[in-house]
Amino acid sequence: MRFGLQIAIAVLVMGVLQTRAVELSPKETKEAQRLYNLKCAKCHKFYDPASYSHPEWDDWMKKMAKKSKLKSTQYDLLVQYTETLRPAAHKVERSQAATARPGKHR
Ligand code: HEC
Repeated sequence: MRFGLQIAIAVLVMGVLQTRAVELSPKETKEAQRLYNLKCAKCHKFYDPASYSHPEWDDWMKKMAKKSKLKSTQYDLLVQYTETLRPAAHKVERSQAATARPGKHR
């Protein structure tokens, strides 16, 4: 039951992230990079989020958040940060899907 609630929240958060173009301030980007180096890169190299599909990356982030014991705010920041590393094509596609604007498929 608690898990269901977490999914509901995650879906809500993803919805917000999708409609609001993912943009981090330079300060947030720095903090995210610091977190990544501190929390993730201590175990393995930097995996490029662009080489994964969105659901794949989501799954890894959830698994890895446990491994690196991220706080939820740190998790959110890292998710947003890694989202900005995704190729622009994905973002355009997704923001268009979110606003349901017709045309311009690229
Ligand atoms: C405690 C060590 C540890 C930490 C911390 C950690 N990882 Fe991992 N990561 C692993 C291991 C081990 C694997 C291999 C897959 C598995 O066993 O789950 C892995 C696999 C991955 C993969 C998949 C690689 C593939 O095979 O395609 C990604 C992506 C990833 N980690 C990202 C991250 C991110 C992002 C963070 C920080 C939030 C992180 N990891 C923190 C140990 C860690």
